Amino acid sequence: IETCNHLWNKLSERGADRKSLMINLGGGVITDMGGFVASTFKRGLKFINIPTTLLSMVDASVGGKTGVDLGPLKNQIGLFSNPEMVLVDIDFLNTVSEREMRSGLAEIIKYGFTFDENLWNTIKRFTEIDMQEINKLVYKSVVIKNKVVLQDLHENNLRKSLNFGHTIGHAIESYFLESEDKKSLTHGEAIAVGMIVELYYSSQVFEFPMELTESLKSFVNRFYGTVHIEKDDLAEITKLMKFDKKNVSGKINFVLLDQMESCKLDVQLDAELIQNGLFYYMQASQ
Ligand code: GLY
Repeated sequence: IETCNHLWNKLSERGADRKSLMINLGGGVITDMGGFVASTFKRGLKFINIPTTLLSMVDASVGGKTGVDLGPLKNQIGLFSNPEMVLVDIDFLNTVSEREMRSGLAEIIKYGFTFDENLWNTIKRFTEIDMQEINKLVYKSVVIKNKVVLQDLHENNLRKSLNFGHTIGHAIESYFLESEDKKSLTHGEAIAVGMIVELYYSSQVFEFPMELTESLKSFVNRFYGTVHIEKDDLAEITKLMKFDKKNVSGKINFVLLDQMESCKLDVQLDAELIQNGLFYYMQASQ
């Protein structure tokens, strides 16, 4: 929010008015923050997004979610506000590190499980980032996301599916961000773990095929490495889930799957199952 303050001051100093156009060129933080700054300055300037990372191309820059974190808590301050245009030029991916490419890939895996299993069938064969496939996957991901947000911009229903993996994932991401003795994770690294844990819940509650849960777990362990979560970390990670934006009246709402491409929304779980899912991942990482 301090950075937003700086940007609002700059807009003011440079005489931005309601006819100005803000161009947000960068990764997810930039397009989220730029959209927020533009939408709140003088009650709203127009803006366009030019995403330069895989993550922002396939997710953050599309769909009108703008905002910033509140301390370590993800995306707590913000509003829905659509850009005039999103310009995706995959040549920017030449400037993106392998680790950041893997981060964006996690969101494409999410579309695979929730909307089009062909995406997952392509990705699960990757031994490394395959740029030719990525080009096609970017296009397919944007088509899926656009279709979802055109139906449900404000996340009353269908759009919640796009939070699959994020209830657990955001809590892990925030925990690693604020812990002094842990190295921060990329968004996608945390979401990959979140999807494994939430598929485990799906297998327990809705009989989602356990072999698919296992196949995601072995892909993530091979492709992303393992995230070391200790028993002592669990209480704080569970506490952080209470800040998830999908929660209502203090209840944690999960997005689970009963089969590929079929989401169950607003599922509440008991504390023991929540812990067991985390243990399931932790055993995998030993
Ligand atoms: N990143 C999830 C959404 O835009 O709804």
